[in-house]
Amino acid sequence: MSAFPSPFETVTGGKALLFDDHRVHWALERLGSVAGHRVLELGPLEGGHTYMLDRAGAGEVFAIEANTRAFLKCLVAKEIVGMPSARFVCGDFRAFLRDTSERFDLVIASGVLYHMVNPVEVLSQICRVTNRVFLWTHYYDEALLAANPETKHRVMPGQPSEHAGYRHELYRHDYGRALEEHGFCGAGALYSNWLTRDAIVGALRHFGFEQSKLARSSHSMSADPRSASRRPGARRRKTSSASDHEPLLELIAPS
Ligand SMILES: C[S@@+](CC[C@H](N)C(=O)[O-])C[C@H]1O[C@@H](n2cnc3c(N)ncnc32)[C@H](O)[C@@H]1O
Repeated sequence: MSAFPSPFETVTGGKALLFDDHRVHWALERLGSVAGHRVLELGPLEGGHTYMLDRAGAGEVFAIEANTRAFLKCLVAKEIVGMPSARFVCGDFRAFLRDTSERFDLVIASGVLYHMVNPVEVLSQICRVTNRVFLWTHYYDEALLAANPETKHRVMPGQPSEHAGYRHELYRHDYGRALEEHGFCGAGALYSNWLTRDAIVGALRHFGFEQSKLARSSHSMSADPRSASRRPGARRRKTSSASDHEPLLELIAPS
């Protein structure tokens, strides 16, 4: 899938620019330096984001991948490009998050929340292990989904749910034929539950975060809030730079 970064262009790979991903550039611009930081990455797929974090100076990127084929690709990528800070483990990050007492300077949760059956549990656990998170995900947006013939029949009406005192609606999303596609990498279930953007932001706040930046979606399938958040008192970003993604909202907790 992924194209290898320079000077490894001649290595046969795919075309996805996951080793030079604008989502991660966006996050690094907003979150500031990750130099020496301990990062937890959920679902690295082929290690592209891991590579970017390594080259940005992360001290350790602990990356948990459940899909064995993807996990092996991460190891191969590590051998080819070298990622001294990366530690790939094969396993279920939900189990790790439930059990761990470790803390991380940053959690990268890109492309994983919309694969979860209980996304609010994952958000609550992320908030428990870190003060800073980068979250990229599809979310439920009725108008956007209705406009997309591919997805409009795959997402069900909302069902009330509650997790750790946080009430929300879950929108069941059936994978349908996507499950048969070569290279499909979900979370192992036949369906997942999506949240609205407000519910995602609300969960982050409920579990102790302030919302720092949300970027407007340019995605056709549904919508993708790129969310770089930090808990009150956590380090603020040191730099800002121009971006094609304007923030939708900024909430800064009172000091
Ligand atoms: C859609 S891909 C996202 C890849 C990459 N993070 C990105 O944003 O481009 C989702 C990845 O998360 C992995 N994954 C999903 N659920 C997981 C779980 N519970 N534990 C570990 N990895 C998981 C999948 O195998 C897949 O590699």
